[in-house]
Amino acid sequence: MSSLELSDLVKHYRAGGEVVRAVDGISLTVSPGEFVALYGPSGSGKTTLLLMAAGLMEPDAGKVLFDGRDISRLSAHDGAVYRRREVGFVFQAFHLIAGATAIDNAALKLLADGYSLASARVEARPWLARVGLTEREMHTPRQLSMGERQRVAIARALVNEPRLLLTDEPTGNLDSRRSREIHALLRDICHERGIPGVLVTHDPQAIEYVDRVHTLRDGLLVAGLEAELATTPA
Ligand SMILES: Nc1ncnc2c1ncn2[C@@H]1O[C@H](COP(=O)(O)OP(=O)(O)OP(=O)(O)O)[C@@H](O)[C@H]1O
Ligand SMILES: [Mg+2]
Repeated sequence: MSSLELSDLVKHYRAGGEVVRAVDGISLTVSPGEFVALYGPSGSGKTTLLLMAAGLMEPDAGKVLFDGRDISRLSAHDGAVYRRREVGFVFQAFHLIAGATAIDNAALKLLADGYSLASARVEARPWLARVGLTEREMHTPRQLSMGERQRVAIARALVNEPRLLLTDEPTGNLDSRRSREIHALLRDICHERGIPGVLVTHDPQAIEYVDRVHTLRDGLLVAGLEAELATTPA
């Protein structure tokens, strides 16, 4: 059982002569079996933090530890293997392959890992069913609604039985009932498998599904009353 440990993470972007302090010194630990929300306004650094946890972006300073390794210092090859075998990542913008069907998009990590097409589809099918897309297996992303695309991206994240879940607004395009189902599914996976999970969200309804809420503002974690006010639905 492994924790995800972020320590003193910093990422500043330079754009048009300006420095954006997107993540400005964040430390937090997500324990095995813990499902936490990363909550905060647009631009507060949530996606940047998640990309660093996935090894998709190198921090300017600080460490990302998972399973005794510093994820931010993995080689390109080892980073790719980490994401394919160990991480379930849901991108805010889905990143589905336009020319591939829903089932093949869901099966992507298995195909990249050497599964035959037939066996990858056998593994992916129950995950498409879990997100309610059995009837849409052979549709390409263009033939799916935004919410359906989002659910394919969720199935793709779960298909490799990840040891770490990192999800960026995974219900941003879903209605309230579907959002609840997905939040419950992600929470149950973390609890049942004893894996750490992060849910980036703006949705106050999500809070009842998580074990803990971390609130971000301007690249920093905020605590106490400020966090409470930020997480209270308007
Ligand atoms: N590649 C980049 N170059 C320059 N600035 C960037 C870049 N990516 C993000 N930023 C800036 O960094 C800050 C944090 O961005 P980030 O995407 O992490 O926010 P977020 O909390 O995920 O927001 P949202 O809720 O809108 O998705 C923002 O102010 C954004 O404008
Ligand atoms: Mg974001």
